[in-house]
Amino acid sequence: MATRAEILRELKLAPEWRLRGRADPADAVDAPAHDGAAERIAVAADDPAARSARIAGLDWDAFDADVAACTACGLCRTRNRTVPGVGDREADWLFVGEGPGAEEDARGEPFVGQAGRLLDSMLAALGMNRHDRVYIANVVKCRPPGNRTPEPGEADACRPYLERQIELIRPKLIVALGKSAASLLLRTDATIASLRGRRHLYGETPLVVTYHPAYLLRNLPDKARAWEDLLFARRVAASGAPAGPPGA
Ligand code: URA
Ligand code: SF4
Repeated sequence: MATRAEILRELKLAPEWRLRGRADPADAVDAPAHDGAAERIAVAADDPAARSARIAGLDWDAFDADVAACTACGLCRTRNRTVPGVGDREADWLFVGEGPGAEEDARGEPFVGQAGRLLDSMLAALGMNRHDRVYIANVVKCRPPGNRTPEPGEADACRPYLERQIELIRPKLIVALGKSAASLLLRTDATIASLRGRRHLYGETPLVVTYHPAYLLRNLPDKARAWEDLLFARRVAASGAPAGPPGA
């Protein structure tokens, strides 16, 4: 790991370097006042409002490249590949997981490991697959080291990307897989057990909560509940009725 002095040296000598995704903006913020190059970069990268506005205007072509260059949180330092999402850009169903694991980080595609195989089987049981009317994304687009839960600051830093994906896809239904996705999208601390089985709202889009596939691999009895949740989700998607009040 580079020391702060090394990072600042690098920034001063080669400002483009951080745009490729390795410098730590938090370190750059502390750059001494005389370090003009590092300062300019830090300001450009650290204005969250400007960044959110820029991301909110991205089209699909620019989206993946923007994620690939992102250094807005510390996860950029340890990722191998960014994992923006996979599937049908005009999907009816958007599944939102937590964050890439090792296999996803190596391949750049979400849910391609063991949890992904379970998700694929669940989709197949519903007569769906990840490339047709379905899109799969995560709360964070870079792997948290050791597959730890993303920290709130990391989830918040990545939120504009997920928001943009939802805006571009305009799904009929969002399925939050596990607590990270449910917490971020519903801005709640409630447990999955208390959130499942009801129709929620993300903006005007119906949202259903279920267990994360990786959790199901360790808690087999809850698989039956997850299956009930997906059947419930299918009814919500098919109803097409205006969503009820939040939490209804
Ligand atoms: N778990 C997730 O939440 N997302 C993935 O992409 C893979 C595993
Ligand atoms: Fe950027 Fe999201 Fe990756 Fe953090 S997790 S570096 S916010 S793309």
